[in-house]
Formats: sequence, C-alpha cells, structure tokens
Amino acid sequence: MKQPVSRILLLLADEKRSRLMVRGLNAAARSMDNAYGLRFSSVASEVAALDEMRRDGDVQAVLIDACEIAADSCAALNALLESIHRVRPHLDVYLLAATPREAAASLAECTRIKGSFMRDEGDWRGWFRIIQAELQKKSRTPFFDALSAYVYMAKDSWHTPGHSSGDSLRASPWASGFYDFLGENLLRADLSCSVDMLDSLLDPKGVIAEAQVMAAQAFGARQTFFATNGTSTANKVIFQTLLTPGDKLLLDRNCHKSVHHGVVLSGARPVYLNGSINRTYGLFGPVSKKTLFAAIAENPDAKALILTSCTYDGLRYDLPPIIAAAHQHGIKVIIDEAWYGHAAFHPEFFPTAIQAGADYATQSTHKVLSALSQASMIHVNDAEFDEHSFRENFNMHASTSPQYAIIASLDVGRKQAVMEGYKLLNQALTLAGELRDAIDATGIFRVLQLDDLLPEEVRGDGVRLDPTKITVDISGSGYSVEELQTVLFETFNIQVEKSTFNTITLLLTIGTTASKMSRLQEALVRLAREVTNMSKPVSRRAKAPDIAEFTRLRYLPRDAYYCNGENLPLLDAEGRPNAELDGRVCADQISPYPPGIPALVPGQEITMDIVRFLVGLLRHKRTDIHGLAHGGEQLTLRVMTKKEERANRALN
Ligand SMILES: Cc1ncc(COP(=O)(O)O)c(C=O)c1O
Repeated sequence: MKQPVSRILLLLADEKRSRLMVRGLNAAARSMDNAYGLRFSSVASEVAALDEMRRDGDVQAVLIDACEIAADSCAALNALLESIHRVRPHLDVYLLAATPREAAASLAECTRIKGSFMRDEGDWRGWFRIIQAELQKKSRTPFFDALSAYVYMAKDSWHTPGHSSGDSLRASPWASGFYDFLGENLLRADLSCSVDMLDSLLDPKGVIAEAQVMAAQAFGARQTFFATNGTSTANKVIFQTLLTPGDKLLLDRNCHKSVHHGVVLSGARPVYLNGSINRTYGLFGPVSKKTLFAAIAENPDAKALILTSCTYDGLRYDLPPIIAAAHQHGIKVIIDEAWYGHAAFHPEFFPTAIQAGADYATQSTHKVLSALSQASMIHVNDAEFDEHSFRENFNMHASTSPQYAIIASLDVGRKQAVMEGYKLLNQALTLAGELRDAIDATGIFRVLQLDDLLPEEVRGDGVRLDPTKITVDISGSGYSVEELQTVLFETFNIQVEKSTFNTITLLLTIGTTASKMSRLQEALVRLAREVTNMSKPVSRRAKAPDIAEFTRLRYLPRDAYYCNGENLPLLDAEGRPNAELDGRVCADQISPYPPGIPALVPGQEITMDIVRFLVGLLRHKRTDIHGLAHGGEQLTLRVMTKKEERANRALN
C-alpha cells in the first residue's frame, strides 16, 4: 500500500524556537511508527502559512503560536482561523501556548482549535503521538474497516447472497469467468444484514451510523445519510419526507426526472419555475433570480423549493440570497447537488449548498468522487428535521439487501476527500485550465466559457461555472457530434461524458490523470490538424430541435399519472407529428436521456411544439426518450382520456 505524506506546519515567528521545535518533532517522527508520514516544517507569518496551505495539499495540520504572531488577541486569532477555514476547512489546527491558562482562554473562544501544546514543554514524542492520533481518527473508515475485518475472519456463509461468498461461481466451469473478472474480495464482501457487526443501512446504530456521522462532519451537515440507489432515490425520499399530498412545491421545471417522480409520489402541487435555456447549444441553465424571487414572494405558503446546482454543464447558482429569501417565508430549500459532491473540499467551489444554508443537499458521490455507481449522500441541515419520517420514507425506497461495497465506497470516498480532496481537486483544476487552453489552441475546437453558456436572462445573477466540466463547441470542426464521438472512441480510445448537437462535454474529476489528459489533447490536436489540412467545411453547426417552452399544468401530476389514460401515436399515418396530441394532457413523464430533464410531466398540456421537439430528437437518433410507450410498431404517448379530464379536478 502507498504511504501518505502528512506535512505539519508550525506557524511561529521566533526563528530559534522554530528550529528547535521542527528538529525535535522530526526526530520524534523518525524514531516512531509513522504510518501517515508526518513531516514538520515551519513558517514565520500568517501569509506564508496560508500560501503553504494553498500550495501544498499534503499539509494536514497547523500549530499556531498565538503569542508571537499577529494573532495575539482572540479576535485576531479567530480571524486567522477563519482565513484558514476558508482555504482548508478540513485542516487540524492546534495552539502553542505559554500556559494552560492561556490555552484554555483561547480554546474557550475559538471553537475551531483542535487542541493545544505548551510551547516550552519539549515533549516532541507526546506532540507527535497526539497529532498522529487525530489524523488516524479523521481518516478512519468505520464501515470499510469492519467489512474488510469480517472478510478476513473467513466465516462460513449460511445466509444470502446465494453465491455464498462467491463459492457458487469460483469452481464453476460456466461462471468462474465472472468470479475471476470481479475478483475474490468483491464477492466475499457481498454480504447481508445477517452479519450483525456490519450494522444495517435501514436502521444504522453501529459502523454505518459512525461512518455517516463522519461524513456529516466532512460535508459540514448536521446529519448525513448514505443512499445506495443514487440521487434518484435520495430526491424522492426527501420529497416524501417534506411534502404531503397537495403541499405546494417550487421547482425548477428543468430538474432531473427523479425530482418529477418525487412530485408524483408525494402528491405535491408543483409550481414550475421556467429555467433558462441556451438555445444556441441546446443546454439547460439556472432559473433567473427574478423568476425565483417573484415565485417565492407569490407563493409564501410553499413548503419547499428545489433547484439543481450545479447543473450537468457546471452552472451553479449564487445560492445564499435565494436560500435567505425562501427561509424568510419558512420555505425549506433542497439543492440537487448530484454533480457537486466534490465541492466541500476546495474553496474554488465554495459555497456548497449546505455552506449556503440549504436545508437538504443530495449528492451523487459516485459521479465526482471515488465511490461506486449508485453511491449517494443526503446531507441534512434542517433544524426541524423529522428523522422518524425520513427513516420511514428512506426505508420505503431502500432495498433490504443493499450492496455493501457501495456503502464501503461512500466511507472510503469521504476519507479520501477529507485527507487529499484539496490536493486532488487542485490537480484537477490545474489540468482543467491546461485542457481548456489546449483545446482553444487547436483553433478548431472551442471551449465554451461561462459567457457562452449563460442564457441572457441569468447574466446578472452571479451564476458561476465549475471549471471541471468542460463543454466544447465542435461545430467548427466539420464533424457531427456522432462522427467525432466515434473517432474519439474508436481511434483514440476516448469516451466522453455527454454531447448535445454541437457540443461534447468532458468531466474532470479527482481521477483525471495527466496522461489521460495528454491523450485527449493529442487526439484533438490531430483531429484539428486533419480538419485544417483536408479543408473540411469550416462550420457545420447542427440545428438542434428547439427545446419547447413549458406549457400549462392542467392536473396534479399524481392525478394524471394514476389515470388509465389512452395511448396516442406520436406520428400520424403520414409519419408527421400527430396533431391529435395537440391540447391533450400527458399522463406520463417524457424525458429525453441524457440529460433526463423531462419534456413533459404528468398533467401537462401537450402542444405541437413539444410533439415536434420529441419527433426531432427521435429522428436524430441521438437520445433515448424515457416514458414513451411502444404500441405495436408505433411509439405512443399515454394521455388522459377526455372522460378522465372531466372526472379529475383541474388546476386553475
Ligand atoms: C441533476 C441530477 N440529479 C439527480 C440525478 C440522479 O443521480 P443518480 O444517477 O445518482 O441517481 C442526476 C443524474 O444524472 C442528475 O443529473
């Protein structure tokens, strides 16, 4: 296993004392078991300390001599701690004090200090042990530790799953390939709630509860819950917890499909907020502040507001004023941070939803950190959180046989983010900057900047871009998106995150390496050179089907969804968009995927613009459309019958 390096910074002005301490502590580190690679060094000023923390992600703790530096009052010390926290909130901070009384006074005032050492004590081994023990505590993985310990105990399995630690597969002439491919430990670690020492995701009291508490600390939430069926489930659980049938909910019309499923399940009455749309590139943007503030003012009785931040393309709201406005009316704020789980670990991404005061944040840890697919977290900050109700709703959606490797990956993903998230994100940001420059330098492919991405109506709204999501305009290359994706995949072994009609999106994460980047760079440079040499048509901007405006919601989504309905074909007998659909009410959610943002929700009036949009997508064969039914040869839409329209209560 690789050994980490943990740099411990001493901040003190007295050069002689500083040399003595660093020498003593490093000697202690050399003479003791040093599994975390502790190394001590010093800086003489606050500015130098902050620079060092920013520059070097291996800095894990700082010891501050409050008396000798400018921070000689509690206010000054607090200001310094605040500055450290703004850069590296996960660092351990200790105080070097002259007397226990001095230390106690500071510790009482400054809650961010982990502990103190007496400056003239010279107990280097003692200090080393304490600092190391804290790192050990912070980097524990209670669930993963218990899971691996259990596997190494080699207990006989007389319980599910049926493959019995892989024994059914291991010796099979037909299925051992699967065993060999996945690896022994994945199968041995595939266990069930029969194993008491591994706790239960559905009623955590042991190692899962502990791991969740550590995650809450890491993400700055009051409580955190692990979900093993993605943010899709996390969103639904929160909706069912907060909303009862008929409750008003403010939501970005362009939220992920799981949010709209949550509307059906909870029976909530949605007030849809029209998100901005970038029609040049066919991308969904944030809801404008103007629309949001007006909706909050007009619907002070709403129970909750949900927004997506950041979006799939990396656009993130200026959340604090929006959350404050909602809170003025007691409206709970839920932020879908499916794409923003890394944000708590680098100041470039601050504030996260929880930092901005949101009541709930759902994150697909698996999308951007080192967790297995489906591994998500629900962070709760709501002071009125009803844990019992949440638990009932969580358990309604959770499998009674959750995948233990997914839970372990959340535990390990949190540990990694705390211990080296800053460093890895620094790297990802540097790579993202270099990649952006390199792509632009091709002169053929062009990275879309915030300005290109932002629809007009949100330009003054303080929206920012997560630079690790890179959207590239390819229209100057002469390639269609399909052609480009095929060449990248087949010739250069590169699979991109997603595409629209004129763009491809590249997702950089803590797993992006310099070699992967150089391969991509090389591919784009070569393709650009070929384009220039072959003098392919300079621009071939594809015409994306126009994303249709949102239309009227005529019935509660839940009422429409539970109608039997009737199926009408999308195309008429001549193969044209079926005019019979015009004015009818959709009973299903119809979502082009990706990105999984619905074109129609249950209860919504269908227009020919929407039908044409769907037909356009199908003709380009670029997108799956979830929610369409297959009636014989035909693709059909389930709509409310006229009788059902009369029988159900129409919304005004
Ligand atoms: C904004 C948004 N929310 C939620 C989800 C669902 O996340 P998961 O795949 O973890 O279920 C997605 C998935 O793409 C998404 O884009």
